[in-house]
Amino acid sequence: MKNNILIIGASRGIGRGLVQEYLSLGWNVYASARDQLHLDELRALGAHVTHIDVTDSNWVKLLTLPADVSFNALIFVAGVFGSPSGSQSIPTREEFDFVMRTNVYGAMAAISHFAPKLKRVSEGLPAKFGLITSGMGSISQAQGSYGWLYRVSKAGLNMAMKAASNDYPNIAFTVIHPGWVKTAMGGAGANVSVEQSSKGIAQVISKLSLNDTGSYKTFENQNIPW
Ligand SMILES: NC(=O)c1ccc[n+]([C@@H]2O[C@H](COP(=O)([O-])OP(=O)(O)OC[C@H]3O[C@@H](n4cnc5c(N)ncnc54)[C@H](OP(=O)(O)O)[C@@H]3O)[C@@H](O)[C@H]2O)c1
Repeated sequence: MKNNILIIGASRGIGRGLVQEYLSLGWNVYASARDQLHLDELRALGAHVTHIDVTDSNWVKLLTLPADVSFNALIFVAGVFGSPSGSQSIPTREEFDFVMRTNVYGAMAAISHFAPKLKRVSEGLPAKFGLITSGMGSISQAQGSYGWLYRVSKAGLNMAMKAASNDYPNIAFTVIHPGWVKTAMGGAGANVSVEQSSKGIAQVISKLSLNDTGSYKTFENQNIPW
C-alpha cells in the first residue's frame, strides 16, 4: 500500500519540489496552496490538493481532506521572510504579525492538529514530521542581525518542534534547513537547486528515526547547533 504525505505550502519553490520528489518516489501526495491556479497545477502533477492559508485562525477547521486518510509523513514548508532589517529597526506590528503568524503560528497549528493523527510508515518505521526551518534560526550560529524577525521566527519554529516532540514518543520530528535555494525567497544567486534541496530533504525524512527525533538538520543530513 502507498504511503501518504501532506506537504503544507506547496504552490511553488521547495514545497512544489517536494511534491514532485514524493510523487516520483511513489507516495500518495496531498499538497496545499492558497489559490485556485496553484491548486490546479498541483492536481495536474498528480497530487491531491487542499486549500490552506496557515495564517487563518481557523485553517485546521477549514481543511477539506478526506476523513479516512491518515498521513505517514507531513512536511510544513510554508514560510515568509518579511523585512530584511536588522536590530536597528523596531518591526512594525504588520511586519511582526505577518512573519510570526506564518512561520510560528502556522507551524504550531500544524503540529497540534496533525501530530496526534499521524500513522507509522510501517512496522518499525515511525511516522515522520518535518518542518522547514533555516540556518538563520540557529541561536549559537547567529553572527549578525540581518533578517532579524525571520531569524526570531525560525528559532521560534525550532522550539515549537523541539518542545512538542516530547509529547509524541512514536513520531520522529525534525526541523530541516533546506540550503540556500534558488526560489523566490532564496533568489537567483542561491547555490542549491530546488531539485537538490527536495531530494536531500526527502532523504533526511526517510533516514529519520525515533533516536534522532527533536533534531535540527541540514538537507544534507548534518546536525546544526541550536
Ligand atoms: N530559499 C531559501 O534559500 C531558503 C533558505 C532557508 C529556509 N527556507 C525556507 O524554506 C521554505 C520554503 O521557502 P521557498 O524558498 O520555497 O520560498 P517561496 O518560493 O517564497 O515559497 C514560499 C511558500 O510558502 C507558502 N506560503 C507563504 N505564506 C503562506 C501562508 N500564509 N499559508 C500557506 N502557505 C504560505 C507560499 O505560498 P503562496 O504561493 O500562496 O504565497 C509558497 O508556497 C520557507 O519556510 C523558507 O523559510 C528557504
